[in-house]
Amino acid sequence: MAYECIEVDKRGPVGLITLNRPKALNALSSQLMAELGEALAAFEADDEVGCMVLTGSEKAFAAGADIKEMQSKSFADVFSEDFITSGWEDLTRCRKPVIAAVAGYALGGGCEVAMMCDFILAADTAKFGQPEITIGTIPGSGGTQRLTRFVGKSKAMEMCLTGRMMDAEEAERAGLVSRIVPAAELLDEAIKTAERIAGMSRPSVLMTKESVNRAYETTLAEGIKYERRLFHSTFATEDQKEGMSAFAEKRQPNFKHR
Ligand code: CAA
Repeated sequence: MAYECIEVDKRGPVGLITLNRPKALNALSSQLMAELGEALAAFEADDEVGCMVLTGSEKAFAAGADIKEMQSKSFADVFSEDFITSGWEDLTRCRKPVIAAVAGYALGGGCEVAMMCDFILAADTAKFGQPEITIGTIPGSGGTQRLTRFVGKSKAMEMCLTGRMMDAEEAERAGLVSRIVPAAELLDEAIKTAERIAGMSRPSVLMTKESVNRAYETTLAEGIKYERRLFHSTFATEDQKEGMSAFAEKRQPNFKHR
């Protein structure tokens, strides 16, 4: 389908989604979020795609939810629509990994969307923040929850209460991003990383994602039991036989994703 607010491209086994509302610094309008949901669903259903990359522009990954779209909404409007949550959580339901490649601003909903991805690669120009407090509201799509889990209470509280932005260095130190790359190399590096993941055994990739995410939802003992059962189940795949045989035979594995 034709999209107006995003661009979608397939780079081999990598599904690339680029947020594309440059005049509004990729503000996350409801149309943009609906298009994002469709693009994610299409890549989820595409057997050739093993990993996705979500990115924005040099200046902004996304400067937040669209303030102009929501400014006149009433409490009854946002409550009845369950505004911001409906549609936004699609990202968290993807089973294939999604890498956020962030350059420039990732603010408010932009930071929240990046945190819904599986990990964040940051350009050295990236800036993260939850500035909702400065416009008389609070984060509405996980900012107070996911940021706190990533960077701890003190930093999350300060950022949400003051709207202060974190640069890429601080974000890496705090554990919000997996690593920093020069801005000019961000997309290539994200795609290279996604290609590497897509080349692994697909069942193992999906199980790894599920298991790491389980760490946020359960006790340590239950999480470890869950991981152990998934680990056992990989022994039912052809790819586990291939991967271990390839190691023993000193050759590269040829995974069939089953
Ligand atoms: N919504 C709608 N439009 C936005 C926007 C947003 N979140 N962010 C930027 N824009 C628009 C601006 O209005 C401007 O449009 P015009 O040219 O038509 O005036 C255009 O994008 C360029 O922005 P600026 O001129 O402001 O650019 P700048 O370089 O001077 O500043 C910025 C950049 C610091 C990111 C600034 O744009 C800004 O503070 N944006 C808002 C950030 C924000 O508060 N985000 C939180 C939104 S609420 C939210 O996300 C709720 C939630 O939890 C889900």
